[in-house]
Amino acid sequence: MVTLQIGAHLDAPGRTAGLYARRFNRHTFWCGQSGSGKTYALGVVLEQLLLHTELPLLILDPNADFVRVQETRETAGPQAAERIAELDTRVFRSGPGRDSPLHVRYLDLSPATKAAVLQMDPIRDAEEYNVLLHSDADARDFEAAELVRGFRASGDPARVRLANRMENLQVLEWDLWSRGTSSVVDAIDERPRATVLDLGGFDHPAEPKVAALAVLEHLWSRREERRPILIVIDEAHNLCSPEPTTEVERALTEQLVQIAAEGRKFGLWLFLSTQRPTKIHPNVLSQCDNLGLMRVNAPRDLAELAEVFGFAPDEAIRRAKSFQQGQALFAGAFVSEPTFVQMGERLTEEAGGDVKVPLRPA
Ligand SMILES: Nc1ncnc2c1ncn2[C@@H]1O[C@H](COP(=O)(O)OP(=O)(O)OP(=O)(O)O)[C@@H](O)[C@H]1O
Ligand SMILES: [Mg+2]
Repeated sequence: MVTLQIGAHLDAPGRTAGLYARRFNRHTFWCGQSGSGKTYALGVVLEQLLLHTELPLLILDPNADFVRVQETRETAGPQAAERIAELDTRVFRSGPGRDSPLHVRYLDLSPATKAAVLQMDPIRDAEEYNVLLHSDADARDFEAAELVRGFRASGDPARVRLANRMENLQVLEWDLWSRGTSSVVDAIDERPRATVLDLGGFDHPAEPKVAALAVLEHLWSRREERRPILIVIDEAHNLCSPEPTTEVERALTEQLVQIAAEGRKFGLWLFLSTQRPTKIHPNVLSQCDNLGLMRVNAPRDLAELAEVFGFAPDEAIRRAKSFQQGQALFAGAFVSEPTFVQMGERLTEEAGGDVKVPLRPA
């Protein structure tokens, strides 16, 4: 069984600790309070997956932590550096003026998602919704001014209302839209070894969520192809809240609940990282067969974790409150028994990392 070397046993520092690569065909939950080292540890594991498997990774990255995934550190050694440099990795950025911008095609979205983007209800807003259903040709490039002008000029009340809605919500101005250029799903379909979606740089709070939804919907719609992919979501509470408030959030949570429940057999495997178990929808959490647990102080969170992850002994979970940064418990399918680990060093550069307190020069 291929084992990913991720660090040393916490209680036997000379012994290498590993995770079973094959067991990433399950959903994985990664948890720990802020600063416990989740993103760093996630990087350690993803690097090993890149080096020792052929599993494509899709990384939904809210803080641009993984945009330097192909830049190895000097300490990584020439062999790892060479192998990582050879991999087909694609990084799509958000924010103005970026190379390789993260774009999706409005036309590719499902009707329900289009309606959610425009905060529309198919029944309550029946006429506008109906215009939307039949206006794909008009929306070919989602060119803001033209589309709105066309709707206004039609004189049709439903079209005029839809034009007002589009303008008022300012969705046509989003940087996210491809406007005739390619969509990130085109790249994902080419099956690169790693695709990083930097979700942090958008102006509008719904843009990163629609980006994620577009990609997840796309993968789900092609699930019958059964091509495996590991869907890594750092800060997953942003995309998989138990209490979604907007239509887009509801659609996103629903899609993730569906992938959690049914995606495994199609090769759609989730790897979700967050600070507290209760920040993730319970129907997603309960489908995770792998647990990576870093420092957690709050007794309530520890109790919740023990309850959901029955395969990890209570006393092992309780030990998480004494973990230092970079220490973790792994339990579930990807280890033969619950294992305490001191995470090893990253091979590639972290792009995020903590901000330091500015000190006066000595
Ligand atoms: N094992 C480690 N070795 C060296 N540095 C580490 C290790 N783990 C974490 N760090 C450093 O500690 C800082 C915080 O770690 P990280 O960003 O992974 O925390 P986090 O759990 O993801 O926090 P948040 O929930 O706020 O995102 C980072 O600057 C990171 O470089
Ligand atoms: Mg983090």
